[in-house]
Amino acid sequence: MAVRYQISGSTSAAISASVETGIRADALAPGTPLPAVRALATELGVSPATVARAYQELRQRGLVVTAGRHGTRVRPRPPVAGRRAALHPRPAPGTRDLSQGYPDPRLLPPLGPHLAALAAEIGPPVGYASTALLPTFAEAARDRLAADGVPAEEITVTGGALDGIERLLVAHLRPGDAVAVEDPGWANLLDLVAALGLRPIGVPVDDDGPTEAGVRDAVALGARALVVTSRAQNPTGAAVSAERAGALRELLAGRPDLLLVEDDHAAELARVPLHPLAGATPAWAFVRSVSKPFGPDLRLAVLAGDEATVSRVAGRARVGAGWVSTVLQRLVLSLWRDPATAELVRRSGEEYERRRTGLLAALATRGLAGRGRSGINIWLPVPDETSVVTALRDAGWSVAPGALYRIGAGPGIRITVSALDDADLVPVADAVARALRPAPPGRFTA
Ligand SMILES: Cc1ncc(COP(=O)(O)O)c(C=O)c1O
Repeated sequence: MAVRYQISGSTSAAISASVETGIRADALAPGTPLPAVRALATELGVSPATVARAYQELRQRGLVVTAGRHGTRVRPRPPVAGRRAALHPRPAPGTRDLSQGYPDPRLLPPLGPHLAALAAEIGPPVGYASTALLPTFAEAARDRLAADGVPAEEITVTGGALDGIERLLVAHLRPGDAVAVEDPGWANLLDLVAALGLRPIGVPVDDDGPTEAGVRDAVALGARALVVTSRAQNPTGAAVSAERAGALRELLAGRPDLLLVEDDHAAELARVPLHPLAGATPAWAFVRSVSKPFGPDLRLAVLAGDEATVSRVAGRARVGAGWVSTVLQRLVLSLWRDPATAELVRRSGEEYERRRTGLLAALATRGLAGRGRSGINIWLPVPDETSVVTALRDAGWSVAPGALYRIGAGPGIRITVSALDDADLVPVADAVARALRPAPPGRFTA
């Protein structure tokens, strides 16, 4: 029998710290039930109110969840350790990893020439007194957003999309507030929502984006924010269509109590047009990261929004991290201005498109309907994630189990196409088909 982790402590802070230590050390695995409040109180010789306070603090920080009569459990993705990584099947030696959701490093623009050019013109060191947002960078960012129909009079910069979304949620919401998120949706966002002590409400996604009914229900349930992925939705590849954008704009029009956040992480890499929702509500923000087209290590996103929202984010940053390095802003500006880089990004987008549609077609000829209108992933509904993920791993391919991305959505697997070459498409599709239809039990052969 497994040894039970011994929770200790005589105050609520000590008890919650002890649970957190157990989670971090892997002694309390995701999903593990915690002792009932009264039982633990008796065991530790403290009052039930002390234990209840400890559990409440853990709940607000997103480490545990309480489900009525089912008691309190360690959250499936507690935000104190690399849980999502732990849920990823470890690629066995010799397997190809299609589980990560990263862009293909072979398709990212080289930074060397831009860094060299920057070195030649960088000028004297910049101090604290310099502006946070370089006027040349801001002008280029505004032009690029305006060209896609995003009103970008007010903008700021953040350290990537997730940093921007975190700042937005913190600026507008309080722990316990509900956030409408796509379901299935980006695992890091689900982790962030939990880490901030917010409550996720899952909104179903079809190929055209979050469904109208799902958004309507989430708003009716009291969502204070809605996060929508414009294109290359992770994991389904959905892209908000013109029609869906129109319907959602109408649905959300004038809602003063809802923060609308759009995440356009695919940006210049997307091969489908942008249909923004920006400005549908008084409080809105549109976040465009440079991670996917230009490289995740740049850690930069442009954030446009209404005046109050942008100044809250920028103002809060000023009393914290301060600003995003002007060296980084200049580097991104240099990449934006370079026609050869633009061409490379365009070709990379086409390449992902070819790999994705190629795999979808190969699956379709095997009777499998995968989803993936845009981006670098495809989503395949499956009846049993574990058996399919395991069978694929045994066949030499690591894919991500849908459990990483789902709240209430049905099971599936996510296959990242960025690591695939043309020659891989048929073997991957064959392996998926076999994993879904295991051979009927046959006669034993010697
Ligand atoms: C939906 C979504 N948004 C944003 C990002 C990138 O975010 P960041 O700019 O923080 O690297 C990703 C990366 O996988 C993503 O899947």
